[in-house]
Amino acid sequence: MTTVLILNGPNLNLLGTRRPEVYGTATLADVERLCQREAREAGLEPVFRQSNHEGQLVDWIQEAGIQAAAGDCLGAVFNPGAFTHTSVALHDAIEGVRLPVIEVHISNVLGREEFRHHSWISPVARGTIIGLGIHGYPLCIRALTMTARA
Ligand code: DQA
Repeated sequence: MTTVLILNGPNLNLLGTRRPEVYGTATLADVERLCQREAREAGLEPVFRQSNHEGQLVDWIQEAGIQAAAGDCLGAVFNPGAFTHTSVALHDAIEGVRLPVIEVHISNVLGREEFRHHSWISPVARGTIIGLGIHGYPLCIRALTMTARA
């Protein structure tokens, strides 16, 4: 079965307790449940990964890129957390393996502090969904399926 990678970066393991006024009270397990349902409906197998470490995220992106090139992975839904605003390495990894990525942010980063307005990921992402809470994640899976290229 074709996989879809649901990749979460630093501090997203704290969802539910970290700044609930910004990120809500749903947990990463709730995100996984929503994605599981959406992926199943699309006939995809979701693969969930979360890390607080930039290099680990790079490794997973490279792995998924190889699988995508082989036709075994549709792409990735990626919330890079704070690395969004700092990581040239993640930008280069996505670009380097040509992994189809939909970037997702739970909060509306454009309505927050200035330093959150720039994303190193957006220029190499197929698209971006921001500010819709955890509902953005299943929408990203839908977006990947609707924009899949043969
Ligand atoms: C975030 C937004 C980032 O600016 C922040 O560093 C996060 C979460 C979001 O999902 O809204 O960790 O990616």
